[in-house]
Amino acid sequence: MSLYSLVASNPFYLRIRESKADRRASDVFPGDVSGLILDFGCGDLRVGEVISERNPDAKIVGIDRIITQNNSDFVQGDVLKLPFHDNVFDYVFAIGALHHNNDVPSQLNEIYRVTKGGGEFILSEETYVTGLGRIMLSLNDIAHNFWKQKPHLYFTFQTYNEWKKMVESAGFKFKQASKKKAHLGLMTYYVFRFGK
Ligand SMILES: C[S@@+](CC[C@H](N)C(=O)[O-])C[C@H]1O[C@@H](n2cnc3c(N)ncnc32)[C@H](O)[C@@H]1O
Repeated sequence: MSLYSLVASNPFYLRIRESKADRRASDVFPGDVSGLILDFGCGDLRVGEVISERNPDAKIVGIDRIITQNNSDFVQGDVLKLPFHDNVFDYVFAIGALHHNNDVPSQLNEIYRVTKGGGEFILSEETYVTGLGRIMLSLNDIAHNFWKQKPHLYFTFQTYNEWKKMVESAGFKFKQASKKKAHLGLMTYYVFRFGK
């Protein structure tokens, strides 16, 4: 049994996890939403569940390679090869998932393929400004992976402009971005909205 699985059932830990999921759900959808939504690299799908609880007309599907719960809305698979038809999702959102693969353009091409015309892609990613910031982000992820005993994950952190440019190169049109703070204000992440 890992240290993480021991701590994961602790009520204090669960409260932190819940408030994070709450905040992340509001980042992605500050208002009401409906339609078919893909949570790309969904982890435990808790953010997707919160969005579902708040929006009865929204149907959330999550994909991740690690199955953490038995939920019919959870698809186990590789985000580099999405097992969905073209143009099916009204919204796709990805929270801290894209930087875990060294091939970011292929993930974006897949997201573009499955998003409906007129649909939206919402990207939440940590960014760095200086070389030191990049090192801090990498250390954060190394600690996180060790803590959760995850398989090796890549770290392809980008700056704000690099993320924006890469998503636009996949065909999406930039709508807006908002800056957020995490980890006691030490880390910055952005929530970008793009349209197809
Ligand atoms: C930092 S976690 C974020 C989880 C979730 N989005 C959240 O905010 O709680 C990144 C997730 O991406 C998943 N992931 C990374 N690369 C993947 C791949 N190639 N296929 C499927 N899932 C992947 C990992 O398994 C992990 O659960």
